Amino acid sequence: MNQALIILGSSRSKGNTRHLVNTIFQNKNHELIDLNEYHINYYTYDNLHSDDDFLRLAERMVQHKHIVFATPVYWYSMSAILKTFFDRMTDLVTIRKDLGKALKNKTLYSISCGSDGDLPEGFTIPFEATAVYLNMKYGGHFHAWLEHGEIPPEVHEKMATFAQNF
Ligand SMILES: Cc1cc2nc3c(=O)[nH]c(=O)nc-3n(C[C@H](O)[C@H](O)[C@H](O)COP(=O)(O)O)c2cc1C
Repeated sequence: MNQALIILGSSRSKGNTRHLVNTIFQNKNHELIDLNEYHINYYTYDNLHSDDDFLRLAERMVQHKHIVFATPVYWYSMSAILKTFFDRMTDLVTIRKDLGKALKNKTLYSISCGSDGDLPEGFTIPFEATAVYLNMKYGGHFHAWLEHGEIPPEVHEKMATFAQNF
């Protein structure tokens, strides 16, 4: 229950975002869901998609206190695979309200990995606003980039502070 659940939405399962997540959560009790390993349909208004993996993953979300979304910055925004997951969270306030209510008071965090040190304006809004909408707490955002495959030393201290949440 107290371990963090990381939901990784990158087009590369072993890419930079995964490297960042692995570094933050090394020696931390955690479970990781790589969205590339699951089949999640786009949201549709008629809910003709409830036989895919989304609800199974949502059932795992409610088993954890800390839920961490990790995404690369793709075109100034979260990745499409993660956005598809976010759109499907509509299921949690429509056809599976029980799961949506079970998220109350859990803490949502977000992590991004880009090529720029600066995050595009408004990047964290979907994470913060989703937490508010689902009556969750927002635990904050951590952003980094990689230089020659490594996390630059100047973000190590901030990363260590963020990791203390878990
Ligand atoms: C389709 C695409 C779009 C990208 N757009 C941005 C961007 O808008 N801003 C940025 O800083 N980096 C951008 N990048 C760079 C990635 O965010 C960066 O290389 C990141 O570390 C990749 O993580 P990954 O290996 O998990 O995919 C983009 C990369 C790709 C492939």
